[in-house]
Amino acid sequence: MSKKEENLMDKIVSLCKRRGFIFPASEIYGGFANSYTYGPYGVELKNNIKKLWWKMFVQDREDMIGIDGPIILHPKVWEASGHTTGFNDALVDCKNCKKRFRADVIVEEATGKDLEGKLEEMGKELTKIKCPSCGKVDWTEVRTFNMMFATKINNVSDEDEYIAYLRPETAGSIFIEFKNVIDSMRLKIPFGIAQIGKAFRNEIVAGNFIFRLREFEQMEIEYFIHPDEKWEKLFKAWLKLQEEFVLSLGANKKDLRTYEHPKEKLSHYSQKTVDIEYNYPFGFKELYGLAHRGNFDLSSHTKASGQKLEFIDQENNKKFVPHVIEPTFGLDRSILVALLANYHEETVKGETRVVLKFPKEIAPVQVAILPLSKKDSLTPLAKKIFNDLKTCFVCEYDETQSIGKRYRRQDEIGTLYCVTIDFDSLEDNQVTVRERDSMKQDRIKVNELKEYLQEKLK
Ligand code: GAP
Repeated sequence: MSKKEENLMDKIVSLCKRRGFIFPASEIYGGFANSYTYGPYGVELKNNIKKLWWKMFVQDREDMIGIDGPIILHPKVWEASGHTTGFNDALVDCKNCKKRFRADVIVEEATGKDLEGKLEEMGKELTKIKCPSCGKVDWTEVRTFNMMFATKINNVSDEDEYIAYLRPETAGSIFIEFKNVIDSMRLKIPFGIAQIGKAFRNEIVAGNFIFRLREFEQMEIEYFIHPDEKWEKLFKAWLKLQEEFVLSLGANKKDLRTYEHPKEKLSHYSQKTVDIEYNYPFGFKELYGLAHRGNFDLSSHTKASGQKLEFIDQENNKKFVPHVIEPTFGLDRSILVALLANYHEETVKGETRVVLKFPKEIAPVQVAILPLSKKDSLTPLAKKIFNDLKTCFVCEYDETQSIGKRYRRQDEIGTLYCVTIDFDSLEDNQVTVRERDSMKQDRIKVNELKEYLQEKLK
């Protein structure tokens, strides 16, 4: 990471804490590794990104519907999907300093060799690699470690207790609800089922702020197609839509690239996988994924549950097991990209202005109402404007500190418009409206203000 890029990440982390976007979680107990709380503006940003995604991929399309399933599913779901046996990372411990690492990551960093899945070869390489923490070469055997979080379900007696898992991907619910969805909806193939929700992975190497978390959110689609469908064309179209989505968050096209997984590295369920990678300050890394899962999931769940998961084509009454294309989007990584891509520093009158130039669909605050001073005489008009505008926009009322400091704060939050009420407003019934990016100020009549902002924000 270059100094400049390292700085950008530090600046984002610091801005997020200072301005109420993202806090390290459990901080009063000394923090809890890789766990974060979305603060007041962070939660607005997150909700806006989810809303944008849901509108683009569910509400605006005739071929898509959404569901919202539980985090803990029947343990047999993960047996059938192959996660209980196959969702593993390779780990190794340093016997000297007792630190634990992902074996494939250490080997790749030291040798450039990608040995994912090849435990024996990793072990051989490790005999020549120093521990990144203490510098000794004294490794345990490389062993696999299942990444699912297990939890105990208390039933009627101790003997009746059993292990269940927090879902490692949201996709599970979509496959097991396939029958309920097609029985209750009038769907024509191809169609997609979407879901947004938390997923959990016991990551050995978490880090880079909210890039790799143990608890994160996914926005996933399973797009069911006829087995004879020419899927390559659809696959390409989905890749383009995924790119369109990240561009709508403010990302720059030059910071995106795709990476196709070589055959030997494909997940156990995938026939083809392409990642959309983003140029984070720590390099190009996965942002979203697109996989062709064939009929692996529906067939596996049919076999394990005894329930036929088929589609009946009403036109010719033929039954078949659909294939599926899966576009998957990490919500936390989308938030990280929105923060990185929209962060700007500008010099204004010799001073640095920091501004988050979020697109209007995702800015946490649309309009800030700022009476020039706390004086009682300005409050009634300022409150009246706030109460009127909040019926249409996400607004914030702020009367503390100097107006310069308040503008600076709103710029750092990414607020689209600031409305300032001054003493002249009491005489001429006009207010100053300042636009975030140009900083251009317009004097607008109070009774035309809502319409003016509606026009700007539509
Ligand atoms: N259902 C397919 C699936 O789960 P994945 O590539 O393992 O595929 C999908 O995960 C997306 O979830 C990734 O592209 C990434 O955006 C996000 N993601 C995965 N692991 C994550 C983690 N530990 N922290 C944050 N986001 C993660």
